[in-house]
Amino acid sequence: MRTTVGIIGAGPAGLLLARLLHNAGIESVVLESRDRAYVERRQRAGILEQGTVEVLRAAGAERMDREGLRHDGIELRFDRRRHRVDFPALTGGKSVMVYAQTEVCKDLIALQLKEGGPLLFEAEALAVEGAETDHPRVRFRHKGVEDVLECDYVVGCDGFWGVARAAVPAGRSSTFERTYPFGWLGILADVPPSHDELVYARHDRGFALLSMRSPSVSRLYLQVPADTDADGWSDEEIWTELERRFETDDDWTLRRGPITQKSVTPMRSYVHEPMRHGRLFLAGDAAHIVPPTGAKGLNLAVGDVVTFVRALTHRRETGSAELLDAYSATCLRRVWQAERFSYDMTTLLHRAPDATPFEDRLQLARLERIASSRAAETDLAEAYTGFPIG
Ligand code: APR
Ligand code: PHB
Repeated sequence: MRTTVGIIGAGPAGLLLARLLHNAGIESVVLESRDRAYVERRQRAGILEQGTVEVLRAAGAERMDREGLRHDGIELRFDRRRHRVDFPALTGGKSVMVYAQTEVCKDLIALQLKEGGPLLFEAEALAVEGAETDHPRVRFRHKGVEDVLECDYVVGCDGFWGVARAAVPAGRSSTFERTYPFGWLGILADVPPSHDELVYARHDRGFALLSMRSPSVSRLYLQVPADTDADGWSDEEIWTELERRFETDDDWTLRRGPITQKSVTPMRSYVHEPMRHGRLFLAGDAAHIVPPTGAKGLNLAVGDVVTFVRALTHRRETGSAELLDAYSATCLRRVWQAERFSYDMTTLLHRAPDATPFEDRLQLARLERIASSRAAETDLAEAYTGFPIG
């Protein structure tokens, strides 16, 4: 098999990349180790920055405009108080959209199968070879049979546990990492969201988040110890704990409903530098992970693949490799801003197991500062609605 761009992984990064390349008239092949049903069901975040919405709209994901929910703010909840951050007022008109990653993936898969290049499910990449030559290859196994995909470029969109990153020699790369002593217990519940915007709550018992998937489905999270087994929490215990952490001085109440899904997500910050080695490019979770508190994971993946397609198009139109050479540095500037923001949001809102009373007071002072200073609030709103790509 031969193609121009070999793409490993059919998460949001790989699927969007294939779509953008198709629209630019560039051939690609996508190799995905799991089956289609698995990729379409995997629960992940669901907040799209305005720039992400624009990219997906231009790529043809039109169901998003019909079913996605535009959000003009979030609520911060602390000390039994509520503070709304108004995005358009603070950012000159920007907003975000609630549209689940599962739906983004379903839309992009349908488009790719209808009119794009090959998208092979159950095709596991085994290794990337020849990244330093003009003809990199991906060795893979499709439904039990080994094969080789010959490419001009390979893009590793294979997530944190993928194989692409391993093709960068250890001596040529650096990693930066932080793990957190807590995770998120996430639930999906068949009940209309109890608030029309997301609620991020800081509580002495730990962080809680109210989000949603649609006007009739709520998505809620609780901070739990890192090694928590989701099945160890009964539905009753989950609702009681959520109620406690969202408590306010006014008459706000949390609506309960049947829980249809429960799982625990670990929290990690991670960056691999550089994001390019020869003709191998890394994009999305293959190169970086953020804790989910800032809702940046999917949005970073979109920025990476847009940057790659711009650079490759530039190369084909002008003959200049300047933008391809700048790919890693261009992406990493935005990546580190998202790392900073995600870390700040995480440490602002979570209670570490060894938190001291001094640190508790500092958290409240940081929240108070956001609630009372337009400058501090603008900093949050700008980061949440997204930094420009490139
Ligand atoms: N061969 C083929 N496919 C692979 C391999 C492999 N060796 N290893 C992993 N994959 C596939 C996974 O099955 C998965 O479908 O690569 C895909 C990677 O997708 P994601 O993990 O979703 O990563 P990415 O596309 O970068 O998306 C980033 O989505 O996952 C969230 O938190 C993440 O929100 C962030 C965003
Ligand atoms: C979600 O809806 O899953 C979600 C929303 C906001 C976050 C993280 C996850 O910060």
